[in-house]
Amino acid sequence: MLQNFTTFAVFISMQSIQVNGKSFAKYLDSSTIDNVVDGIAKQINSDYKDQKPLFIAVLNGSFMFASDLFKKLTIECEISFVKLSSYTGTSSTGSVQQLIGVGQNLEGREVIVIEDIVDTGLTLGKLRVELQNQHPKSLKLLTLLFKPGAFAETYPIDYVGLEIPNDFIVGYGLDYDGFGRNLPDIYSIVK
Ligand code: IMP
Repeated sequence: MLQNFTTFAVFISMQSIQVNGKSFAKYLDSSTIDNVVDGIAKQINSDYKDQKPLFIAVLNGSFMFASDLFKKLTIECEISFVKLSSYTGTSSTGSVQQLIGVGQNLEGREVIVIEDIVDTGLTLGKLRVELQNQHPKSLKLLTLLFKPGAFAETYPIDYVGLEIPNDFIVGYGLDYDGFGRNLPDIYSIVK
């Protein structure tokens, strides 16, 4: 029997798509994303030339970005993961749940947190305080995307790939209610 395409959670038609019943339009293509990741990797390779940093990637959203970034790093480095959750649907719930912890000794280490996107900044803010309590030698924050229009915190973000408007996006690891993470490009919600 032929599959009914409308039952698919993600339906792609040219430049705009449906993800779990919402419309999204293409915003950043994969080659643009790759250039941005390249720029961040070059900066890290230079800044941490003679060090052995530990990267902590925030799951789920950063898995694709962390993987691409890690492949471009030429320095000696390690990676670990934390799993946090603060979003349902298209907005932040305002409370951050830690579902998987770091599980690694950070004392005296050069630590760099990898986020996919910083929106209100609540998630990264909570994690930052928790990691600082473990006395790393240094702690830097790195994000592929940053929404300055939504940021409600005052701490500095050390590495930002791209600043974007305060619109909900999916793709390249970012989801809408769990769907859309597999898209290689990034799409912005159609209002
Ligand atoms: P914050 O705590 O408001 O900064 O939200 C951070 C987390 O919310 C990110 O790590 C993402 O998982 C999720 N998030 C924020 N904005 C978006 C978006 O536009 N699309 C998908 N997920 C988002």
